[in-house]
Amino acid sequence: MCGIIGYIGHQQVQNILIDGLHRLEYRGYDSAGIAVLEGGEIGLRKKAGRVQELGQLVSEQPLQGSMGIGHTRWATHGEVNDANSHPHLGGDGEVCLVHNGVIENYSKLRKALQAKGYEFHTATDSEVIAHLLAFEVKRLKEDGDSEGQALYVNAIQSTLVQLKGTYGLAVLFEDCPDKLFVARVGSPLVIGIGENEHFVASDASPLAGHTDEVVYLSDNEIAILSAGDLQIIHRDAGAVNPKIEVLDQQAADSELGDFPHYMLKEIFEQPQTIENAMRGRFNDDEATAVFGGLNLTAQQLRRIDRVVLTACGTSWHAGLVGEYLLEEFARIPTEVEYASELRYRNPPMSENTMIFAITQSGETADTLAAMRECKRKGHPTLAICNTVGSTIAREADGGIYLHAGPEIGVASTKAFTSQVTVLTLLALFFGRMRHLSYPAGSRIISHLREIPELVEQALKCNEMCKYVADKYYNSNNFLYLGRLYNFPVALEGALKLKEISYIHAEGYPAAEMKHGPIALVDEQTPSVFVVPRCGIYPKVISNLEEVKARKGPVIAIACQGDDKIAELADDVIFVPDVEEYLQPLIASIPLQLLSYHIAVLRGCNVDRPRNLAKSVTVE
Ligand code: M6R
Repeated sequence: MCGIIGYIGHQQVQNILIDGLHRLEYRGYDSAGIAVLEGGEIGLRKKAGRVQELGQLVSEQPLQGSMGIGHTRWATHGEVNDANSHPHLGGDGEVCLVHNGVIENYSKLRKALQAKGYEFHTATDSEVIAHLLAFEVKRLKEDGDSEGQALYVNAIQSTLVQLKGTYGLAVLFEDCPDKLFVARVGSPLVIGIGENEHFVASDASPLAGHTDEVVYLSDNEIAILSAGDLQIIHRDAGAVNPKIEVLDQQAADSELGDFPHYMLKEIFEQPQTIENAMRGRFNDDEATAVFGGLNLTAQQLRRIDRVVLTACGTSWHAGLVGEYLLEEFARIPTEVEYASELRYRNPPMSENTMIFAITQSGETADTLAAMRECKRKGHPTLAICNTVGSTIAREADGGIYLHAGPEIGVASTKAFTSQVTVLTLLALFFGRMRHLSYPAGSRIISHLREIPELVEQALKCNEMCKYVADKYYNSNNFLYLGRLYNFPVALEGALKLKEISYIHAEGYPAAEMKHGPIALVDEQTPSVFVVPRCGIYPKVISNLEEVKARKGPVIAIACQGDDKIAELADDVIFVPDVEEYLQPLIASIPLQLLSYHIAVLRGCNVDRPRNLAKSVTVE
């Protein structure tokens, strides 16, 4: 949450910062600001609202200079207003910073600083860091023990040891006009290396197009950036050599193209992104899947007797599909655990339990914490992750990248289907190590190979989804119902609708409905039944009839050629027929499109839904 951008070099910084904030805006978008240091003075522009509004402000009141920092906010402490927007000043304005994260002991620190005479102008936890830095600089200057860069590094170090919580920080000191300082614990920062210039950002998206050389900062590291130099100091290890990695991202990857919203663009990318998730991962000779980065021997993999999948939100829903797949095809007892619960729970886990952290961003605080907790207990922890170089990808013992490209829409779509694809490959992989026969493995491979084309066909239901959306977009409640592999699809459909259209929606196993949610059924509450042909199709039809008997409108997601359903449901969205275990990849497409069109018709901001942020880096 929150996006940080910083630059030091030879170019005018204002537009670099504004452009970077636009590209980071999906991380938080309630306010934005920049600060530029020029001629020993810090110029500040900040504003509640979108980056566009900040852009307007700086075009009217421009800032000159070639070093600066910027921030787009997702509020944690303090309401959304101009004052609480970042950057924040410390002391009498001699320190300026942007912060991503949460300082848990800010209230105590604030009181102590107030007692020393520091005046607070905001309700944020971040301002505490700015004043603490100002205090430490002053103290060290008075002591006279250090000067120059060392003084500022010492001030930062002695500030950071007082903080409890998480931070990604970028700091300017008025008296240190040729250095930009950054530091992190728990909130991601990536440094971009250019020709006589350096960048820093919360993720790589604003760096694409400027440089393809990056350094991912690790926890407890401070980086000192100047135009021509980069130094990194670790809290315990001292100076460390920056590990330069190649950034495989183009600026165009994050562009909207002809689509009105990123969400729609990303929905329509799915034939390609699913293909990318499978590319190079089939071994036809052995009828299995191959993964380059698991970093475990075949022997270690064979010993695995339990799998725990941990994730949040949409990634958790993909994990639930994974649980069904791994148990069915590999016969490995599997559980999907909410990361926010697992991090504090202490479930018994056998020595040979393997953990998969599933995450699009690779930065979700709870998923990271759950993964670390399992790792600490000695379990092999792997990541199924989209974002290359993210903290979870780097800290896991190994993993599988989704290769879905940047997902900008806050509502996750293409990452979900890529996660499900990878989990299907994993089930095939573990299955072939255990009970799955060669012909069964081959069949799975050939079914998977058909999926991109079938998703392409499923996308043709867009017009029908628009029609159905138009009919129901004024409803206040929706039920989403499905069974077996389509239960996670129902959960995901309900989440998509809630998050972008603000309509209350519940996902349930269709038969479980009778144990409570059926009380919600009335003429105004549509039920979306995910009912492609499957082994228990007649059972789901009975559940559907129960809703009809209570005059509830029914929208069915069904297989092409299913004539029966048309007689029962009020509206049917047809999708191609596939094997049951692959239905989530197809049936989720109309649900994504339905939510999208409903949100558009309700005038909601599809890509930037209220209160949400793409990457949840706070607990
Ligand atoms: O980046 P992650 O996959 O770890 O994110 C997990 C959730 O925050 C995320 O899936 C969230 O639920 C999405 N907004 C859903 O569309």
